[in-house]
Amino acid sequence: MMLTMTGVHAHYGHIHALRGIDVEVQVGEIVTLIGANGAGKSTLMMSLFGNPRASAGQIVFDGEDITRLPTHEIALRGISLVPEGRRVFPRMTVIENLQMGANFSAPDNFEADAARVFAMFPILDERQSQRAGTLSGGEQQMLAIGRALMSRPKLLLLDEPSLGLAPIYIRRIFQIVRELNRDHGMTILLVEQNANQALKVAHRGYVLQHGGITIAGSGEELLASPEVRAAYLEGGHA
Ligand SMILES: Nc1ncnc2c1ncn2[C@@H]1O[C@H](COP(=O)(O)OP(=O)(O)OP(=O)(O)O)[C@@H](O)[C@H]1O
Ligand SMILES: [Mg+2]
Repeated sequence: MMLTMTGVHAHYGHIHALRGIDVEVQVGEIVTLIGANGAGKSTLMMSLFGNPRASAGQIVFDGEDITRLPTHEIALRGISLVPEGRRVFPRMTVIENLQMGANFSAPDNFEADAARVFAMFPILDERQSQRAGTLSGGEQQMLAIGRALMSRPKLLLLDEPSLGLAPIYIRRIFQIVRELNRDHGMTILLVEQNANQALKVAHRGYVLQHGGITIAGSGEELLASPEVRAAYLEGGHA
């Protein structure tokens, strides 16, 4: 098992944002987390880094209890996050953004790792010296993913990678998720409001509601579930 969250609670002041989360991610899986705005999806991902810190429960990554490790120590263990809203460094160039992502990686790996990112995202190769803030939204999202890959993570966390993108980029993002998993063996935890597409690429999924997991199953099971269909696929979220 790559990641096991058991009974994880988290708070922001008096807001009880995670209420006993049980989530597992196996090596080589794509697992998706779906849920409405404010359900706690981003909080769940951030809690893996201790921000907010789990107030109860346990998080085990790659056989090690990381529940109380400092954030940078957790990143060093091989978890990389593409945060909601992309957050590239806008005044830095494309290649400088990739250098920032490579901070936890040996300097000797940089050329090869950057070449791998450019092979995956040829547009970034063409734009190496362009400032990231002047890239289109879709290009910025690819850069954010590329940057996260530079640290050679074992587990990649993607928080709403398709949000706000044009349909052509949304398709490309889901293709990339598939390719990373299938061709590069990347284990991925994917948060999406685009539940329909997310459940189609995912091996398994969880539905998060008010800080708790309400439904868990394979992607196919969740796609076929009447509750999921009513709440997330036919109700305007899809
Ligand atoms: N830094 C914060 N301080 C206080 N409350 C917060 C903070 N971040 C999130 N929350 C609250 O925690 C709850 C869960 O928020 P979270 O961002 O995890 O939801 P989400 O499922 O990612 O939603 P969305 O789909 O809108 O991104 C919400 O009620 C939110 O208002
Ligand atoms: Mg969120």
